Amino acid sequence: MIKIQNLYKKFGGHEVLSGLDLEVKSGELMVIIGPSGCGKSVLLKHIIGLVSPDSGAIFIDGIDITNLSEAKLKKIRFLFGMVFQGGALFDSLTVEENVAFGLRLHTDKSEEEIRRIVKEKLGLVGLENIEDRRIDELSGGMRKRVALARAIVMNPRIILYDEPTTGVDVAMIDNVNRLIRDLQDRLKVTSVVVTHDLENAYKVADRIAVFHSGRIARIETVEKMREMEEEILQKYMGKSAL
Ligand SMILES: Nc1ncnc2c1ncn2[C@@H]1O[C@H](COP(=O)(O)OP(=O)(O)OP(=O)(O)O)[C@@H](O)[C@H]1O
Ligand SMILES: [Mg+2]
Repeated sequence: MIKIQNLYKKFGGHEVLSGLDLEVKSGELMVIIGPSGCGKSVLLKHIIGLVSPDSGAIFIDGIDITNLSEAKLKKIRFLFGMVFQGGALFDSLTVEENVAFGLRLHTDKSEEEIRRIVKEKLGLVGLENIEDRRIDELSGGMRKRVALARAIVMNPRIILYDEPTTGVDVAMIDNVNRLIRDLQDRLKVTSVVVTHDLENAYKVADRIAVFHSGRIARIETVEKMREMEEEILQKYMGKSAL
């Protein structure tokens, strides 16, 4: 579903991606783990075509998106739902206005239909009767759920999550993890989650990719990762980073 080949990206003199390869299979949830500042958000932005690489290729469902026109890229982006680092919700708008945003912008569905879809997606993330609340009245965990509902509103085939548990109250973190896993299993999507937290990675992943020095240094199943945790942390992460 996602195939990245030999990706390079520099900002100024600073090389963030240095020949990165990664394949995410259809229906799989891949967690990419790496310390703060290593390039996780930059990688996600490449996958949805918000940033273009200096060289290398990114195939989405077999199509190389690195040389597409803006018009074709826009079409490809409909395959994606993205939960941005920090949520990126409109704080002064209501839950309904936030979740419905893509529908109002990109479809000509009736208001009645939009209300029905918003209610359905909010139901999927475990929220009921909060359509009229403003985002700035909600807790961190509730905001994440709204961001998730917004990410799935156009029925994406791929969901990208940038640090979904960061900024969430400790008591709500497992709740968000369960929700990510639950959506994965119910919607049969392909997902990529980036995080710097291995414990959260274990709770949602099928496989875990270790980001190191601008590349994916290892990919392991959750079981294997648990077995080799000490070794991998020592080698690639520097324990203090986690
Ligand atoms: N548009 C940009 N222009 C210049 N430098 C950038 C740009 N975007 C990212 N960078 C740099 O690329 C590096 C990787 O940034 P990125 O945001 O991907 O890290 P990250 O792994 O997501 O970190 P965090 O865990 O803190 O979110 C950083 O050094 C950052 O300053
Ligand atoms: Mg980031």
